[in-house]
Amino acid sequence: MKSWQDLGFEIEITKDQSPTLRLLQSLDPSKEFGESMHHSGGASTETTHLYGNVAADVLGKVKDPHFMVVGLGLGYIEMNIAREAIKKNASVGLITSYESIPELSEFFIEWLHDRGGNLPIEVADVYDQVLKHVLSENSISDKELKSFLRNHFETVKDVQGPLGENTEFVSRYHGFFYDAYSSKTHPHLWDEVFLNRLLSEAASSQCSLSTYAVKGTLKRALKNHGFQVIEREGFFSKRGSTLGVRGWIDL
Ligand SMILES: C[S@@+](CC[C@H](N)C(=O)[O-])C[C@H]1O[C@@H](n2cnc3c(N)ncnc32)[C@H](O)[C@@H]1O
Repeated sequence: MKSWQDLGFEIEITKDQSPTLRLLQSLDPSKEFGESMHHSGGASTETTHLYGNVAADVLGKVKDPHFMVVGLGLGYIEMNIAREAIKKNASVGLITSYESIPELSEFFIEWLHDRGGNLPIEVADVYDQVLKHVLSENSISDKELKSFLRNHFETVKDVQGPLGENTEFVSRYHGFFYDAYSSKTHPHLWDEVFLNRLLSEAASSQCSLSTYAVKGTLKRALKNHGFQVIEREGFFSKRGSTLGVRGWIDL
């Protein structure tokens, strides 16, 4: 089985000691260093700040919510959703995750189903570390979180391939976690026509969308669909981040 290097990644340990993956070669020819999946200030901390807290909010407001995650990566967001649901003793109706690198989906499923023996040690170890950091300061066990997620990800077919311009959405969602790479390298994901279609075809009437990015195209598409746009603090040195909310009645 392939390892991180074969996929073009190296492991980077961020400031909160949680791991992320950095591309060995930048997707953007003007950049010397490859893109990292997370901020060097802390992959796990950043995920909780941007996505875990929003998942908790949605889970507190609607029963059996549907979540869309754009960019499975190492699965931090999926593990955050599971952690918040377990904390609230709540169930999740659907998690639809998109990932363009098939091996990342395969690794995640093998690890989740405790078939880590099929993976190179350094690969299985990264997922173990991710989970350890996601569950730090919680009494939830690894087993409990994995068992929760296994109900949503039984086989690799339960992870969608790349989100593309012509993707047909499989449901409507109460929470979007938009964690794709930037518009420089993945312009179609940040295109206003595409974002308008995403919101019109896949957003529930009650919905939150969170992303690390601050993009004019996204803000306009959100406003166009009746979302209130909240510019949040960025994580660490990041300029800002965006939260769009629509239709929630505060309980
Ligand atoms: C910033 S990383 C996501 C990190 C991830 N959320 C995590 O928790 O570890 C971006 C991810 O998006 C994936 N990606 C890139 N283009 C994509 C597309 N069109 N559809 C889905 N995923 C894509 C990349 O392969 C990468 O894994």
